[in-house]
Amino acid sequence: MEVVILEGAEQVGRVGADAVAQHVARDPRAVLGLATGSSPLHVYRELGARVARDELSLAGCRAFLLDEYVGLPADHPETYRNVIHRDLVEHVDLDPAAVRGPDGCAADLPGECASYEQAIADAGGVDVQLLGIGATGHIAFNEPGSSLASRTRVKTLTRRTRLDNARFFGGDVDAVPTHCLTQGVATILDARHLVLVALGAAKAEAVHQMVEGPVSALWPASALQLHPHVTVLLDDAAASRLQ
Ligand code: F6R
Repeated sequence: MEVVILEGAEQVGRVGADAVAQHVARDPRAVLGLATGSSPLHVYRELGARVARDELSLAGCRAFLLDEYVGLPADHPETYRNVIHRDLVEHVDLDPAAVRGPDGCAADLPGECASYEQAIADAGGVDVQLLGIGATGHIAFNEPGSSLASRTRVKTLTRRTRLDNARFFGGDVDAVPTHCLTQGVATILDARHLVLVALGAAKAEAVHQMVEGPVSALWPASALQLHPHVTVLLDDAAASRLQ
């Protein structure tokens, strides 16, 4: 695991975008794994700027989201599908039809999870997976106690995660869905390169457990220690609990 402590969010954005660009330079049809939330925003901003300057094209890429809320209607602004379109797809030349997320309104949720796993496999797997980390140590929505062998499935969100995400729902925790579809820990570990971004002191304990703690389902991100190619991009505050 390579841990890189950077001066601030903009530098994190540049180094994260470099990682994506390297994969795309090697293979213009690279499969990207996309996270939602605030952590990857500077990476997405930087990717948008590079595409606008014609330094980068994502036109041949395909992309898979990590997770989705269960039950939010398709036109709800906070579905992860809509969030990723606003935060990334509208600012780059990715084909919107090539961006796929699990459908949180599917009639058969377990069936949807199985076909999502199959779609990732059919695409040849994810080349570079962007990740954030929750204060609980979750990656995607694999909350503490998630099996390290888990695949895409329905999960219950913890109260802590719903409180953290209430900021996207007008501050109303009750408006945050209680369930999600999420790639499993093992699904994430199948990606060839993991790039995790953590910013701010609220992530410091989770970052410490991920990098220096024992591998444990209590801190699901600690499973990244088992992966051969992980890049962790931190600002000073997120790194403040590292030894
Ligand atoms: C979102 C996701 C989550 C977030 C995590 C951090 O797709 O998978 O694991 O990455 O909750 O969220 P932010 O970046 O908003 O602090």
